[in-house]
This record gives sequence, C-alpha cells and structure tokens, in this order.
Amino acid sequence: MIWTIFLLVQAALLYFILTHRSRSKGEPPLDKGVIPWLGHALEFGKDAAKFLNRMKMKHGDIFTVHAAGRYVTVLLDPHSYDAVINDSDSLDFTRYAQVLMERIFNLRLPHHHQDKAKAMMKKYFMGMNLGTLNTTVGRHLQALLKAKMPKNQKDWKEDGLFDFSYSLLFKAGYLTLFGGEQNNNSSDPSSVYEEYKKFDGLLTKMARGMLKSEEKRTAQSVRQRLWELLTPAGLTGDSGSSPWLHGYRRLLQEEGADEDTQRKAVLMQLWATQGNVGPAAFWLLGFLLTNPEALTAVKREFSRISQMETSEMPLMDRTVNTPVFDSALEEALRLTAAPFITREVVQEKILHMADGQEYLLRKGDRVCLFPFISPQMDPEIYNEPQKYKYNRFLNEDGSAKKDFYKGGRRLKYYTMPWGAGTNGCVGKQFAIDTIRQFVYMVLTNYDLELCEPNAQLPEVNASRYGFGMLQPEGDLPVRYKPRNTH
Ligand code: HEM
Ligand SMILES: *[C@@H]1O[C@H](CO)[C@@H](O)[C@H](O)[C@H]1NC(C)=O
Ligand SMILES: *[C@@H]1O[C@H](CO)[C@@H](O)[C@H](O)[C@H]1NC(C)=O
Ligand SMILES: *[C@@H]1O[C@H](CO)[C@@H](O)[C@H](O)[C@H]1NC(C)=O
Ligand SMILES: *[C@@H]1O[C@H](CO)[C@@H](O)[C@H](O)[C@H]1NC(C)=O
Ligand SMILES: *[C@@H]1O[C@H](CO)[C@@H](O)[C@H](O)[C@H]1NC(C)=O
Repeated sequence: MIWTIFLLVQAALLYFILTHRSRSKGEPPLDKGVIPWLGHALEFGKDAAKFLNRMKMKHGDIFTVHAAGRYVTVLLDPHSYDAVINDSDSLDFTRYAQVLMERIFNLRLPHHHQDKAKAMMKKYFMGMNLGTLNTTVGRHLQALLKAKMPKNQKDWKEDGLFDFSYSLLFKAGYLTLFGGEQNNNSSDPSSVYEEYKKFDGLLTKMARGMLKSEEKRTAQSVRQRLWELLTPAGLTGDSGSSPWLHGYRRLLQEEGADEDTQRKAVLMQLWATQGNVGPAAFWLLGFLLTNPEALTAVKREFSRISQMETSEMPLMDRTVNTPVFDSALEEALRLTAAPFITREVVQEKILHMADGQEYLLRKGDRVCLFPFISPQMDPEIYNEPQKYKYNRFLNEDGSAKKDFYKGGRRLKYYTMPWGAGTNGCVGKQFAIDTIRQFVYMVLTNYDLELCEPNAQLPEVNASRYGFGMLQPEGDLPVRYKPRNTH
C-alpha cells in the first residue's frame, strides 16, 4: 500500500515537472496543448504543415510548442533564419541528428564522427570528383532505362510515375555509390529497393518513436534484411562501390566501429543519399506532364542540347547551361521539399529577430525552422504559391532569378530545399545533375505521357512534412515507350 502511494506521488511529481512549464519573461509564446506529456505530438505528426500554420495564425512567427516531452521553438520568419543557421555555438545540429540516428538506425556513433564523415563527403561530392560521379550515374541510368524498355519495344508500357522515378533513381544511385554489380547476387538493386521502400514507409514513425508493436517487429526485420544486403558494400576498393563508400568504411574501421555498427552506418548513408532524389524527380516530371506549357519549354531547351550532343561527348560529360530546367526544378522543389531544419539548444541563447524583437531560448529545447511555410509557400513572396509556374525562377532575359522580397526587403533565403549554412546538403550538385540527366534521358529518348490526359497530381502524404522531400498518396499512372527516331 505504502509503495503504491509512493509510486503515485512520484508519477504525479514527474508529470508536474514534465508539463508544468510556464512562459518566462522574454521567452516566445508557449503552447502546451491539452494532452499531458504528448502535448501537440499527435497533431504535429498527422500534418505538421497544417498544425504549424494554425500555430502561426495564433502566435505569429515565433512560438514554442510542447510535443512528446520536448519543447520546440518554431521560427517562421525567413528574414530571421540566419540567427539560427549561422549560430553553431549555441545551436547544435549533430546532437539532434544523433537522436534520429538512434531511433531510425539503432546506431550510436561518437560525436566527432559526423565531422569527419562530412568532410569526407565534401571531398567526394563537391568539386573535382563530381565529374566521375556524374558520368557513372548517367551510365547506370541509361542501362536501367534500356533494360526496362528495349529499343525495339513498340507497345506502350504502363507504370506509376512515382514508382518509375523512385525505382530507377534509387537503383542508379545505389549502383553508383554502393556498388552492387559485384556484390552478392542477392544484393541486386531491385531487392535492395524493395526492402528500402518498406523501410521508408516506416521511417517517419520510427523518427517520432511512434511504432506500434506489430510495426516494431516489421521495422526490425526490414532493417535486419537491409543490413545483410549491405554487408559487402564498400568493404574492398574494387567491389564496384564508390571511392567515397570505401573511404567511409575505412573511417569507421579506424574509429574502431565493429561490423554491426558499420552496417548500420552504411544503411544510414543509403538513406541520406537515396531517400530524396527519386521523389524529387517524380514531382518534377509530374508537374511537367500536368503543365503542357512547362513541358514544352523544357523539351525545347533539351532539344537544343541534344543537337549539340555527339557520341564522343555526351551531355553528361559537359557543363551545359539549362536555365529553363533549373527553374522548373527549383519550382518543383519549392512546392514539395519540406524539411525541418532542427537544432538543439546547447547553451541559453538570445535570438535576435529581424524586426528587432529578442527572445530567450532555453538550454535543452530545440529550435526548428520550417521553410516550407515561409518562404516557400508564403503568398507575400510568391504570387499564387499553390500553383506550379515553371518560369518563376527566370528573369525576362532568361537568366536565373534570385530577387524575392518580403515586407519590402530582399530575402537571403527565398527557397530552402537543401537546407542552408554549414549543415546544408552536401549532395546538392550531384542530386541536381542526376535528376537533370534522368529527365533529359526520359524526355529525349522516350515518349512519356499521362494515361488519363486530364489527370491531376496525387495529393501529398501529409504525414511526411518535416522529413525532406514529400511523397504522394497513391501514384500518377503514366505510359511510355522508346521514341521512334527514324
Ligand atoms: C533532391 C535531393 C536532395 C534533397 C532535397 C536534400 C536535402 C537535404 C537537406 C534539407 C539537408 C539539410 C538538413 C538540415 O540542415 O538539417 C541535407 C543534408 C545532407 N544531404 Fe541532402 N538532399 C538531397 C540529396 C542528397 C544526395 C544525393 C546526397 C549525397 C550524395 C546528400 C547528402 C547529404 C548529407 C551528407 C547531408 C548532411 C550534411 C551535414 O551533416 O551537415 N543529399 N540534404
Ligand atoms: C555569421 O556569424 C559570423 C560570426 O560567428 C559573422 O562573422 C558573419 O557575418 C555571420 N554571417 C551572417 C550572414 O550573418
Ligand atoms: C556535374 O553536375 C553538376 C550539376 O549539373 C554541375 O554543376 C557540375 O559542373 C558537373 N560536374 C562536372 C565535372 O561535370
Ligand atoms: C553470398 O550469399 C550466399 C548465400 O546467401 C552466402 O553463402 C555467401 O557467403 C555470400 N557471399 C558473400 C561474398 O557475401
Ligand atoms: C542470381 O539472381 C538471378 C535473378 O534473381 C537468379 O535467377 C539466379 O539464379 C541467381 N544466381 C545465383 C548464382 O544465385
Ligand atoms: C503516408 O506515409 C506514411 C509514412 O511514410 C505511410 O505509413 C502511409 O502508408 C502513407 N499513406 C499513404 C496513403 O500512402
């Protein structure tokens, strides 16, 4: 009896400590929600964009919400983003990323690991080495497209555009970076893709720590299977994997990571490098197919390039200018890239907003930017923000448009699909080039059209807001065949 009372008192005390927080002087408005401990977690997880828009209406551009025992200060004024992005002393990206690594990949790596891993990525994905990667991924894309659709095929083939784009780009990226050609037969790209898709479907719930017990078992077995498939990747220099992965393996070994940890880390890299490119290519192609004017403009630009193309100097070996394509992609990403930019507050900080206001951030809380709401979907910045306009990022003279304004002031960050600052995406150039080659090949060598000429793009799966590229609910049926060139 006495123990029951004791435990009850303890529980009540804990509950009090966890939930009884009030707004202190100088802090942003606090919104705890009505459910104890969970706070706003359910609404947040169901549709973060809707929830944060509601909070913005209620509190303005900065507020603190309570979700699953954590306090998150959300900042939605793009003029003030630098105060977060440019502060690596008080705000720590790595600390936050480690939480995700543990939840999603069961992976624990030393704090300094990420700095070294990132330096290594920069070396291989930016600058000199990019040319080789560009060419290799192009070669794989071409081979995969050919295998899917032999040149002598005359009939239309039907497919969902999302699955078509995601599977091709995933496999090409996997072959380029993780090898697989000489890996074990069972590690062929198709099996890895199939398993990865299952993993991807559970990802958001894993990150939120909200798997049901049945799903926990599935998640564990899918991870297990992927670890097995990735066991040989990058182990030897000549296994067909990239110099980057081989270098990454060596780094892990030097740090004393055991085999188990290595496999988990390799799966994490598979996610970081392959998770966004396919969905991005899907949205771009989807917007083009449902906006004939945009499709015509991109095709016209590509046809000028294909006339210059010779067999000794294919497109992918050259640095060609494609302003129309660049704008069409930027616009697709504006509408469908929705990452949270999250940092952990490691020491108390005063946040200076662009409008002169100051707010106190508590140590142990998190700060989160959600550029999808602003700048990307902000009607003050973009006229009719819901609409796809392929030339939104083009000036009259055909050059790239970089001047966008809010409140009369020019924005430094007018769209942020790649994040920004020191933690911005390392693979941006490689990703853009991969998508460009893919779209070029598909539009130049194939006839691709909607099965239903008046079809609309599917809705967005709202549970993925915050996790990088959005994904559709359902798919967009398309058909394709090799173009008759003679
Ligand atoms: C369309 C495709 C892609 C999109 C939209 C995208 C988006 C992003 C975003 C938003 C971040 C920043 C996260 C933050 O600040 O919290 C990020 C980080 C990162 N991305 Fe990408 N990414 C893409 C493709 C790639 C590719 C192909 C690679 C590698 C080859 C890659 C490697 C990375 C790495 C390593 C980081 C972490 C940087 C760090 O540790 O600070 N990404 N990406
Ligand atoms: C970022 O912070 C550094 C000092 O930490 C400062 O010198 C630099 O001007 C800042 N950059 C921007 C764009 O605010
Ligand atoms: C690879 O592609 C990117 C993006 O299109 C481009 O900026 C870069 O110049 C290319 N690199 C090489 C060496 O061809
Ligand atoms: C390839 O797979 C088979 C069966 O799955 C296994 O017996 C063999 O050891 C594997 N080889 C390598 C090099 O991993
Ligand atoms: C390799 O995989 C193919 C297709 O999955 C299969 O038909 C073949 O029997 C496998 N070969 C070996 C040696 O396991
Ligand atoms: C939406 O995404 C979640 C998480 O990836 C997934 O579990 C769910 O099945 C998806 N819903 C639809 C309708 O595709």
